[in-house]
Amino acid sequence: MNTMRRPIIAGNWKMNKSNFEAIDLVTLLKRDLNDVNDVDIVVCPPFTALSDVKDVLTDSNIMLGAQNLYWEDAGAFTGEISASMLKEVGAQFVIIGHSERRQYFAETNDSVNKRIKAALKWNLTPIVCVGENLHERENNRTFDVVRDHCEGAFDGFSEEEIEKIIIAYEPVWAIGTGKTATPQQAQEVHRFIRELLMRMYNEELARDIRIQYGGSVKPENITELMAQPDIDGALVGGASLSHESFVKIVKNACAIRT
Ligand code: 13P
Repeated sequence: MNTMRRPIIAGNWKMNKSNFEAIDLVTLLKRDLNDVNDVDIVVCPPFTALSDVKDVLTDSNIMLGAQNLYWEDAGAFTGEISASMLKEVGAQFVIIGHSERRQYFAETNDSVNKRIKAALKWNLTPIVCVGENLHERENNRTFDVVRDHCEGAFDGFSEEEIEKIIIAYEPVWAIGTGKTATPQQAQEVHRFIRELLMRMYNEELARDIRIQYGGSVKPENITELMAQPDIDGALVGGASLSHESFVKIVKNACAIRT
């Protein structure tokens, strides 16, 4: 972790939690994380719970994110949700291009690019996910895939726009499998992304951009991950669904900073 970049821990709840469960969870998070000042904390509930969660989060240090958006502002797009709608319910962040969306919902670099554009237009901070699957890793294609995801996602964006985004490196083989990338494996790819951004943009931008790691992050492994110089936080799936484990992850991330 680099002390210039503010750490950010986000919980991606995926398709979990009824509204009642969501309210219970954030009520406890708000109570137990209210003394955390030096880490950004974000929860990303399903669309249906955003509004109720936002109500609970009023006057708290926890911010709200969504898990996806559609790039048009409004229109005949049955089943979709626009950036302006997310803004209106109080979201500040939005996850874009998660591997589950790429895998099950035909998300491509091109659609990721359009979604980032829409998020930035509405002043939402995109958390852009990149990462290789097991087959690609085993065939030594990790860097090629991550480069392709970054170049495709950021195609046509200015430095001012890219400065506003957060990147999440999520190796697909580590998601929901209990198999975390080792801190060294994660660090190597985070460093690669920073060097890529240096070539695509400039040194300052590459130095300042925040890169989260995601994939089986737990209270037991967050400390070692956060100790890496290029890891600035975590995008947490399963362990963000329980208040005890998410609180521990945030507190352990704080501890390493102090
Ligand atoms: P897990 O933490 O459940 O592996 O999920 C990671 C993830 O996909 C976060 O976006």
